[in-house]
Amino acid sequence: MPALGLGTWKSAPGEVGPAVREAVRLGYRHFDCAAIYGNEAEVGAALAASIAAGEVQRADLWITSKLWNDCHREAAVVPALQRTLADLRLEYLDLYLVHWPVAQREGIPMPSGADDFVSLEELPLAETWRGMEAAHGAGLCRHIGVSNFSSTKLATLAAGAHIAPELNQVELHPFLQQDALLSWCREHGVAVTAYSPLGSPDRSASLKAHDEPELLGDPRVGAIAARVGATPAQVLLAWALARGTAVIPKSVDPGRLAQNLAAAELVLGAQDLRELQSLELARRYVTGAFWTVEGGPYTLANLWDE
Ligand code: A2P
Repeated sequence: MPALGLGTWKSAPGEVGPAVREAVRLGYRHFDCAAIYGNEAEVGAALAASIAAGEVQRADLWITSKLWNDCHREAAVVPALQRTLADLRLEYLDLYLVHWPVAQREGIPMPSGADDFVSLEELPLAETWRGMEAAHGAGLCRHIGVSNFSSTKLATLAAGAHIAPELNQVELHPFLQQDALLSWCREHGVAVTAYSPLGSPDRSASLKAHDEPELLGDPRVGAIAARVGATPAQVLLAWALARGTAVIPKSVDPGRLAQNLAAAELVLGAQDLRELQSLELARRYVTGAFWTVEGGPYTLANLWDE
């Protein structure tokens, strides 16, 4: 898997296609998608156009997508993946992830109350995983993994699995370093991808806290950037790569797409890394609070196992 990929969460219709085409031209080969982003058809059209134009071959691309929460029943996984493959115009994915350890009633993509959720007792992640293994067995995806999983949930899943989860995609940046989770994954051979590496400043207002610290605008990140002759975004991406994680910054701007890809060439020194390490706040931007409704089965404590 190429370590630096393009994120497509929040990439708007009309913008994501041109961004994907430009990214391919610039040299991006890893694209991170999800059914719930609502833009896989446009991503797929752009990838198909890039391939048809001879700019890239399918075999040189790494395409990840994710199973949404309302398709966690074993029998629902393969059909969900088939819809994603049709949208992306692909015959297989390189990586398919369980998007959240949260289950919703089938056909309810966005819950509006406690009744729209299904507890993990009623629909265990092990059942969803059997569907993921079936999708893998059918050749629809080359690798399978999870997203937003704690080490506790990963360990439980791996214990009962034929194919252990190969990757966990989680929020990671200097304000949320998750050292314990990273060590656990390293010890157990689970690769890690860092999402929202720039602090996800384009999240909708409803997903933002009023007192959020700003990662890209943090003066300490800015000072390191000035010192190493890079931009703050490049420093954040180089930090993620230096920790051995893959990283998937989102951009729809040609200049920032190029800037972010060039971060793979930036090598930070020990002092820079120490300073970034000192920024830890254990602060999630994507808190998961949207899964915790009055009377529902999910709480922040049982979601993150913290
Ligand atoms: P845009 O798409 O207009 O470039 P994350 O990857 O953490 O979710 O962050 C994505 C947000 O960061 C988007 O608002 C994106 O805007 C912005 N962004 C992406 N790359 C850069 C960059 N190099 N410098 C500043 N902002 C960036």
